[in-house]
Amino acid sequence: MTQDLRSFLDLVKRCKPDDLVIVSREVDPAYEITGLVVKLERERRRPIVVFENVKGSRFPVLTNLHATRSRLAAAINAAPDGMLTTYLHAMERPIPPRVVPTGPVKEVVLTGERVSLYDLPQIVHHERDAGPYITAAISFARDPEHEIWNCAYNRLMIQGRDRTSIHLTIGKHLWEFHKKAEALGRPLPVAFAIGVHPAVALGALAIGSIDEDERAIMGGLFGEPLELVQCETSDILVPAHAELVIEAEILPHERVAEGPFGEFTGYSLGERQREVVRVNAITHRQGAYFHDISVAHLDHLLLSTVPIEANLYRAVRAMVPSVRAVRVPAPFTCYVSLEQRAPGQAKNAILAVLGSDLYIKRVVVVDQDVDVFDDRQVTWAMATRCQPDRDLLVVTHARGSDLDPSAPQDGYTAKWGVDATAKPSLDAYTPRHRVPREVMERLRLEDFGL
Ligand SMILES: Cc1cc2nc3c(=O)[nH]c(=O)nc-3n(C[C@H](O)[C@H](O)[C@H](O)COP(=O)(O)O)c2cc1C
Repeated sequence: MTQDLRSFLDLVKRCKPDDLVIVSREVDPAYEITGLVVKLERERRRPIVVFENVKGSRFPVLTNLHATRSRLAAAINAAPDGMLTTYLHAMERPIPPRVVPTGPVKEVVLTGERVSLYDLPQIVHHERDAGPYITAAISFARDPEHEIWNCAYNRLMIQGRDRTSIHLTIGKHLWEFHKKAEALGRPLPVAFAIGVHPAVALGALAIGSIDEDERAIMGGLFGEPLELVQCETSDILVPAHAELVIEAEILPHERVAEGPFGEFTGYSLGERQREVVRVNAITHRQGAYFHDISVAHLDHLLLSTVPIEANLYRAVRAMVPSVRAVRVPAPFTCYVSLEQRAPGQAKNAILAVLGSDLYIKRVVVVDQDVDVFDDRQVTWAMATRCQPDRDLLVVTHARGSDLDPSAPQDGYTAKWGVDATAKPSLDAYTPRHRVPREVMERLRLEDFGL
């Protein structure tokens, strides 16, 4: 398997040419790129779009890369409904990365005065956004004290020629690395890869223990080691086949105003003080695509869902082996279906979910006869199998996302679980009505002129 974005684009061109649209007309990076993605989404069209001619920058912008499940599945060689299994397989059989002497990402190397974030497309996504944001940057960093590596998406707000702010969710792994470095009074070296094969993107979003290496999960998804090269200005390792890499440091004890920004929750959150990034080098391929993700749209939401569902499935399965399915249908929300073999297992599933993902705030557990991919069925189970005074679990004062506007204090939140399984058991519950099977098999609509 080839590990770059371009090889994936070639695959799309070959197998589904309508899924890739090239726009040569000039586009304004302020609002127009996101605006066009929103318009396409309203028409239920989800192609990858390449804007060749972006006002104010020499870099073409590629967007909407992850906007369909079938595209994400193709990227990891899975059937659209087999992504969970493929992803779990990669988590269970990670392949460590391999360092190579050089790679395409070194075709152009810019250091010192030649570094300018203003040369990149200055993409403003939504009304009220405080300025241009880089939304498809995957951070690569190492624990300041141990040989533990981490990857994640972290959005960057361009704050100067060589300065950005960064959003670090409290409690997540890059935040933990930075906290350690800050306590030592040191900057944290980091690099951001922009424009990667979707398997790298999916691997970066793996959720697990801090010592699980996302780069090896990327290898598991590729079926071969991820190729890495060393940065020019630090010993951070980055994907050799990325379109562009920003080499940087997160500074200790510095904060800067960031936002408002239109968040993945669908809200425009106000200004906050955030950590500061100093950029030391930019390296890129010749003719590099600058990747943009339209925040809070399908491109963003579908991408995050696969790794979160895989982790939650793994966590629930450890507790309740008869789990059937896990779905994350909306921000902070998880549905679980399971075959409850003993009373109490639904509650255990709620505890497993809330204990294994920082973001999840609401869990609904249903029996195996309810399809969690159908919202109406889940709502029906909540309405007809649930007594709130008995089946609702509320956990107060926990840590969640700092982007949830309903929390009185950023990220300090209550969480809840709903046991919407039949009690005492599905077998003993009031039966569901149905037309006799024999009648359904015999009836043919056309016999009745229907
Ligand atoms: C497009 C996109 C943008 C994201 N932006 C941020 C961000 O700015 N800050 C953040 O903490 N997490 C962000 N996330 C979520 C993290 O990347 C995700 O929670 C990741 O798994 C964290 O890594 P960790 O579990 O190794 O700490 C984003 C995810 C996506 C898909």
